[in-house]
Amino acid sequence: MIYPVILCGGRGTRLWPLSRKSFPKQFSTLNGDTSLFQQTIARVKTPAFQSPIVLTNADYRFTVSEQLANEGVDNATVMIEPEGRNTAPAILAAALLLQDQPEATLLVMPADHAIRDEEALSKAIMAGYDAASAGKLVTFGITPDRPETGYGYLETFDPIATQSAHAQPLKAFVEKPSVERAEEFLTSKRHFWNAGIFMFRVAEILEAFEVLCPQLMMPVRRAVQGAKQDMNFLRLDPTPYASAHDISIDYAVMECCETLSVVPTDCGWTDLGSWASVWESGAADQAGVVQSGATTSIDCKDTLLRSETEGVELVGVGLNNIAAIAMGDAVLIADMSQTETVKTAVSKLKARQ
Ligand code: GDD
Ligand code: MG
Repeated sequence: MIYPVILCGGRGTRLWPLSRKSFPKQFSTLNGDTSLFQQTIARVKTPAFQSPIVLTNADYRFTVSEQLANEGVDNATVMIEPEGRNTAPAILAAALLLQDQPEATLLVMPADHAIRDEEALSKAIMAGYDAASAGKLVTFGITPDRPETGYGYLETFDPIATQSAHAQPLKAFVEKPSVERAEEFLTSKRHFWNAGIFMFRVAEILEAFEVLCPQLMMPVRRAVQGAKQDMNFLRLDPTPYASAHDISIDYAVMECCETLSVVPTDCGWTDLGSWASVWESGAADQAGVVQSGATTSIDCKDTLLRSETEGVELVGVGLNNIAAIAMGDAVLIADMSQTETVKTAVSKLKARQ
């Protein structure tokens, strides 16, 4: 039995000004007709999966309900975190909700990824299911093509080029390395990127939390025990949840765990985590220009032009390697190689408010 656990409580600040605290990127239509959250839900709407457990922040609950309804899903469990405490407490809450089913398998999926080859991902998930059924904590590995510092890296025992889409043991998990280490990893050919998708049984992930991050157990257990049904939402008890440590699953469990497996997958994954990755995965013209909304490009090269607000016309002239995003109330113009830094701008703006 596989329970999808969909994480959609993040802020997605690197995609400012489109992604806002009030409406982050997972709910926006970044790469097609439906949002990344809806695409994630559609992925697990098959008989292979139980109804999903969706974890989100109180602010996004109505957006989640509306987008679930648009996907025709009316049986999801929507767990509301009173405040975001990052992915480790959220995943632990989902596991504790199912603690009387220790054999159940959780498929943890971030709601902000785009997948080009759904079939390849399904195959990888089935390989992951076998490994999770054998007691492993399973990660999914993407072949890296640049020294990205915003991802986790999965170190394998054998060179990655020779590997097949079956689960194999992991040597180490390194979350968000320095650029020097990321460059080393890229040349080593023994490291995948971590896709951020995980599979494990309830029994093993609870045991891992107990051993590797015991301080989370008590507050999250209490928050789940004290959870209250409110309309279609299951609200975690705010007081204990607020005292849970803010930490991601990557640091809390994955980096310190010795029984990890990786399933390599070539599924056309992108996390659309920055404007550079939105540009890379978009349909470019011959000059490498990707446009959306009311935009005009004159003599531009390798550039992203997006007008996100009706009535706002964006014109680029002679731009090279630029991301330009226009909204009604904010405009971003960034060098394509520095779009990761947009989150610093968001912190600056926040400090000014
Ligand atoms: N419910 C809930 N609550 N979801 C959250 C929270 C939270 O407090 N914080 C983040 N999320 C969601 C985000 O919306 C996203 O879908 C997912 O959890 C991952 O969080 P990110 O904040 O986007 O993580 P990251 O991108 O820095 O790193 C993770 O993903 C990379 C791949 O995209 C790590 O797993 C990396 O190792 C991985 O390479
Ligand atoms: Mg992310």
